[in-house]
Amino acid sequence: MSSTWTHGIKLTLFGESHGNGIGMVLDHLPAGMPINLDKLTAFTARRTAKKGDTTSTARTETDQPEFLSGIYQGKTTGTPLAAVIHNHDVKSESYRDIAALARPGHADYTGYLRYQGANDPRGGGHFSGRLTAPLTLAGGICIQILEQVGVQIGAHILSIRDITDRAFPSVSLSTEILKAAGQKDFPVLDDAAGEKMIACINDARLREDSVGGVVECGVTGLPAGIGSPMFDGIENTLSSLLFGIPAVKGVSFGDGFDASAHYGSENNDPFIAENGQIATKTNHAGGILGGISTGMPILLRVAFKPTPSISRTQETINLKTGENTTISVHGRHDPCVVARAVPVVEAAAAIGILGQMVAQCGVHITK
Ligand SMILES: Cc1cc2nc3c(=O)[nH]c(=O)nc-3n(C[C@H](O)[C@H](O)[C@H](O)COP(=O)(O)O)c2cc1C
Repeated sequence: MSSTWTHGIKLTLFGESHGNGIGMVLDHLPAGMPINLDKLTAFTARRTAKKGDTTSTARTETDQPEFLSGIYQGKTTGTPLAAVIHNHDVKSESYRDIAALARPGHADYTGYLRYQGANDPRGGGHFSGRLTAPLTLAGGICIQILEQVGVQIGAHILSIRDITDRAFPSVSLSTEILKAAGQKDFPVLDDAAGEKMIACINDARLREDSVGGVVECGVTGLPAGIGSPMFDGIENTLSSLLFGIPAVKGVSFGDGFDASAHYGSENNDPFIAENGQIATKTNHAGGILGGISTGMPILLRVAFKPTPSISRTQETINLKTGENTTISVHGRHDPCVVARAVPVVEAAAAIGILGQMVAQCGVHITK
């Protein structure tokens, strides 16, 4: 079903970029879980474009959710949790002149085909990056539930074009490192690399272009033994959510594609028994073997393509007439979506991990 994901918990996203609002319904959440709304607002604000920030869109939405159900006296009820986020800063006139023109790299062409032209094309409609606001809200709730059972999630920008941040340590990943980037306006571990990334994004913007990059995400505290083989593994579950984020073109776990160039002796993670616990000395597997958690940090990377909407003139077609033409996309767009996508990746990972736990063993506060 489009825009509905289910595995233990069930998430539905709805809305269009320039419609009245966007929102989400989360079902099968564990009941009685405290949700701190101030903390939730602080989390979702990390995705929101900031006024005056030239590396993101000039569209500034407050993204304040209206909860319709599912939270009572500060706790999850366990029945469907529904929230709507009203759109306020809408300027549909920017799309009037190009309404019939398919933006190269965007879903205008395929959305038009799929829905026979009945889709709302303003700002990308349901295909807009704006739909990541309710996704982040849903994930923020899941993150709080996971934290109560000792599972922590964090992410940072690993690269923009060829400029790279330090990677997360794959074995000793402390909560401090995991959460460090999320506290910054530009979410990197190494601020000097961050400065170069910001310059690269601004340079692309000034040249009427855009850039992409990679987000690295880590999950710690997940007990060993969560997941299933074949089609129900942690990689499968998380990938189906991560590929739901617009502009995602690649997802890898542990050493990912690099593992294919190594010998088995280099890639295998030796097991060791330590203080009555079984761990691995290295973590090339990214904390997953056979789709099931090893107890080591889960590590994944998500590749984002450059933002499709650029003001440089490009060739395209008129969807109504089928004729060749050109397009230059003005209006308000992120010259790079990667920084804003960092909490979105954390949110998607949280939904998947919570879903796996609920499906397999439920979630119980022990402290
Ligand atoms: C946080 C975020 C913000 C985005 N902002 C824009 C934007 O301003 N302009 C744009 O053309 N695409 C933007 N995108 C990407 C498009 O929504 C996406 O490329 C498009 O829907 C086509 O989907 P696909 O790239 O997954 O194939 C954004 C994506 C994310 C995750």
